[in-house]
Amino acid sequence: MDTQRSLFFCLCLLVAQSVSAETPTTLLNLMKRLEKPVGRALSSRGSHRNIHHLEQMLLNASFCGHNLTLQTNSIQSLVFKLDCDFSGLSLSSTTLANVSQARAPHAMQFPAELTKDACVTSRPAELRLICIYFFTAQQFQDDSNSSLLNNYVLGAQLDHRPVNNLQKPINISFWHNQSLEGHTVTCVFWKEGASEHGWGSWSPEGCYTELPSPSLVLCRCNHLTYFAVLMQLSGDPVPAGLQMPLEYISLVGCSVSIVASLLTMLLYAHSRKQSDSVTRIHVNLHGSVLLLNVTFLLSSQMALPTVPKAVCTALAAALHYALLSCLTWMAIEGCNLYLLLGRVYNVYIHRYLLKLCVLGWGFPALLVLLLLAIKSSVYGPCVISFSNSQDNGTGFQNVSMCWVSSPIVHSVLVMGYGGLTSLFNLVVLAWALWILCRLRMREKALSPWAYRDTAMVLGLTVLLGTTWALAFFSFSVFLLPQLFLFTVFNSLYGFFLFLWFCSHRCYSDAEAKAEMEAVSSSQMTH
Ligand SMILES: *[C@@H]1O[C@H](CO)[C@@H](O)[C@H](O)[C@H]1NC(C)=O
Ligand SMILES: *[C@@H]1O[C@H](CO)[C@@H](O)[C@H](O)[C@H]1NC(C)=O
Ligand SMILES: *[C@@H]1O[C@H](CO)[C@@H](O)[C@H](O)[C@H]1NC(C)=O
Ligand SMILES: *[C@@H]1O[C@H](CO)[C@@H](O)[C@H](O)[C@H]1NC(C)=O
Ligand SMILES: *[C@@H]1O[C@H](CO)[C@@H](O)[C@H](O)[C@H]1NC(C)=O
Ligand SMILES: *[C@@H]1O[C@H](CO)[C@@H](O)[C@H](O)[C@H]1NC(C)=O
Ligand SMILES: *[C@@H]1O[C@H](CO)[C@@H](O)[C@H](O)[C@H]1NC(C)=O
Ligand SMILES: *[C@@H]1O[C@H](CO)[C@@H](O)[C@H](O)[C@H]1NC(C)=O
Repeated sequence: MDTQRSLFFCLCLLVAQSVSAETPTTLLNLMKRLEKPVGRALSSRGSHRNIHHLEQMLLNASFCGHNLTLQTNSIQSLVFKLDCDFSGLSLSSTTLANVSQARAPHAMQFPAELTKDACVTSRPAELRLICIYFFTAQQFQDDSNSSLLNNYVLGAQLDHRPVNNLQKPINISFWHNQSLEGHTVTCVFWKEGASEHGWGSWSPEGCYTELPSPSLVLCRCNHLTYFAVLMQLSGDPVPAGLQMPLEYISLVGCSVSIVASLLTMLLYAHSRKQSDSVTRIHVNLHGSVLLLNVTFLLSSQMALPTVPKAVCTALAAALHYALLSCLTWMAIEGCNLYLLLGRVYNVYIHRYLLKLCVLGWGFPALLVLLLLAIKSSVYGPCVISFSNSQDNGTGFQNVSMCWVSSPIVHSVLVMGYGGLTSLFNLVVLAWALWILCRLRMREKALSPWAYRDTAMVLGLTVLLGTTWALAFFSFSVFLLPQLFLFTVFNSLYGFFLFLWFCSHRCYSDAEAKAEMEAVSSSQMTH
């Protein structure tokens, strides 16, 4: 009886061993089968079955060694034997064996908490963590053919157990060397059965996306499955048919503004009498608005492949300069208003206007020249994509514009500068309105144009800020609603400038008339 039993045991062992000796080959064959491209409908169902089969085999197979690595052209399987003393595991493609160096690196970090649930309920002798890395996305096609960063899908599973709601997340790093300009990247996991045609779809639940550097996407997820980084074009690309009309619309807005500021400047020049500093500041502001509109028009028209790179760089720098000096002159307007109201129209600063000009025209020039000297590649063509309806939405037609192409410079010297000057102006204006209210209460009569000027500068600040925020700060110059608003605001800006001029003109006319009357009446009395 005893011998029978031991014989049976030996037989079992033999069988088990023969199975385990065969398993890696079987697994490799299965992985190779998974790699083969098949028809879409077929591959979707086939992938589903084969991937689960592979998982089961990796989890059930017994190996003589401890850990196992299997590798085919585009799939890599890893098996790790863990125990309840698990203290976290860090996997990186640069340290894993047999990884082709041509591939972009990736890494996974598992927290010690991973095995906690399993070890609390029962104390298994062995826990098995499997990782299946796909360097192709063909097994994971969702209904909308989403594109994935590097086409990487990195999967992990712990035994037959689901792992959810980890306190410390699993870190998954995807390195890449492509530009993500114009794309939003989202860390996602494969949610089975959540799709009509495929066998699942991508979901961002429980995953956080971080971009610690331009070449790294870091995902923190609180569960185990197949992970990837979804890449989507940010915003809806504008239908190609709208491109021409949109360009014309922006042309109209800029032209109206150009004509208005030209006209206003001419009228100022004509009425020479008003050559006080307030007027001269206005003229300078109008000049910078004019420059801004002209360079904007040129830079969106001149970013053709035929135009030499140096020309595009120069235009982009000019546009940046115009925007900066426009913002600076707006701030100077606010500052001037502060001086006028604060010191109750009694200000004298030696060579006031010259100093202002150095600030308004010189300071932005210094910034732009410095940038050009340090790194002229911060300026260059920036691409805006249009979906091309002729290719059923798959093709993109690109429109480019000469502008700041470095994200850092863009955020500091466009967003930062614009934000600061606008904030400064709004604070000054709030203060000016408060002063006016106070004065109004004390003495009934106050020159009406102080109100009008404050209202005008306020209106202009808000308009200028909004207009060019729409154009530059959000960067998508040619999106439909934005472009519409941009045109309206830009045209309004010209109109406001004109109105401002007229109100000044009327005021000074009235003042002159009043003076004349006063003089003549005093003459009459004498
Ligand atoms: C793996 O083992 C589980 C239970 O341990 C079993 O249900 C499953 O059928 C096995 N799968 C394969 C492919 O052997
Ligand atoms: C298997 O992998 C785990 C985790 O990296 C490690 O702790 C263990 O030492 C490995 N075993 C062998 C035999 O390499
Ligand atoms: C992994 O590399 C070793 C040598 O570095 C080689 O002997 C082995 O066959 C490779 N394994 C696979 C699956 O490519
Ligand atoms: C990106 O990486 C691929 C290989 O991984 C390489 O061929 C290519 O030159 C790299 N591109 C850049 C811009 O570094
Ligand atoms: C994930 O990264 C964060 C910070 O980079 C770190 O604190 C945490 O320990 C990492 N998690 C694991 C499991 O290594
Ligand atoms: C996805 O691609 C398949 C062919 O690969 C095509 O038949 C299908 O229409 C595409 N779906 C979408 C939403 O683009
Ligand atoms: C786009 O759709 C048209 C029919 O609407 C079809 O004839 C053409 O082949 C499609 N083009 C592509 C690239 O799928
Ligand atoms: C437009 O840009 C996209 C991404 O920036 C690129 O993939 C595409 O090839 C470009 N299309 C043309 C016609 O240049």
